[in-house]
Amino acid sequence: MLDNRLKAVADFVPAGAKVADIGTDHAYLAMYLYQQDQSRQVIAGDKNAGPCEAARKTLGEADLQEIISVRQGDGLAVVQPREADTVCIAGMGGKLIADILEAGPEVLAGLKYAILQPQNAFAELRGWLYDHDWHIAKESLAKSEGRIYQILLAVPGKAPKPDDMELLLGPVLMAERPKLFSEHVANNIAMVQRVLQGLQKSRQDVAGKKQVLEERIARLKELL
Ligand SMILES: C[S@@+](CC[C@H](N)C(=O)[O-])C[C@H]1O[C@@H](n2cnc3c(N)ncnc32)[C@H](O)[C@@H]1O
Repeated sequence: MLDNRLKAVADFVPAGAKVADIGTDHAYLAMYLYQQDQSRQVIAGDKNAGPCEAARKTLGEADLQEIISVRQGDGLAVVQPREADTVCIAGMGGKLIADILEAGPEVLAGLKYAILQPQNAFAELRGWLYDHDWHIAKESLAKSEGRIYQILLAVPGKAPKPDDMELLLGPVLMAERPKLFSEHVANNIAMVQRVLQGLQKSRQDVAGKKQVLEERIARLKELL
């Protein structure tokens, strides 16, 4: 019942984790995490009332309302420091995910794992992790309803910052080239081509920018 995207997020959650699903919406991931491993302690957080209501409904129907706590609040504010050792933040923009991590330093300091599934701003989120003494231990790709999703398992600890291409595509994905990797690269080529087409309509002098994008497309094509 869980789609491939959320299943890939769940696959990175360790057994026995004290896990907070931030931005839980219907609590499908939170419920699955507990159902797969009842030694996990699961918190379902969301900023908005509607999603919290939907989460309570899902959990009530599964008779898990006493087991998984639904908490309304902004980002990591729903978790006490060291109450969670793992967070999942899925289905949000990469910038918002970075903002959520940045806004909760006490909670962040107690985490062993952050499992992140950004919808965009991939390079920015990866860059944020390396700039804040986190790094990426694992990455995976999942395909759901024709769309490719990137899932990151980040852990605390300083590591050399990957180069621009690795930040964009994923340093682990580039090293391991999993099954969906060519499709992932092709999507990125299409994305850069769209930006390039936008620039071609511009009346300003964009020759420098166009050259950077053309070089990026050429480098991406080498990875296909
Ligand atoms: C698109 S849904 C993703 C739901 C689920 N995580 C998934 O991946 O399917 C985004 C959810 O994040 C919640 N959200 C947005 N900003 C948030 C924040 N700062 N803190 C907690 N939840 C937030 C929204 O209310 C919404 O329920």
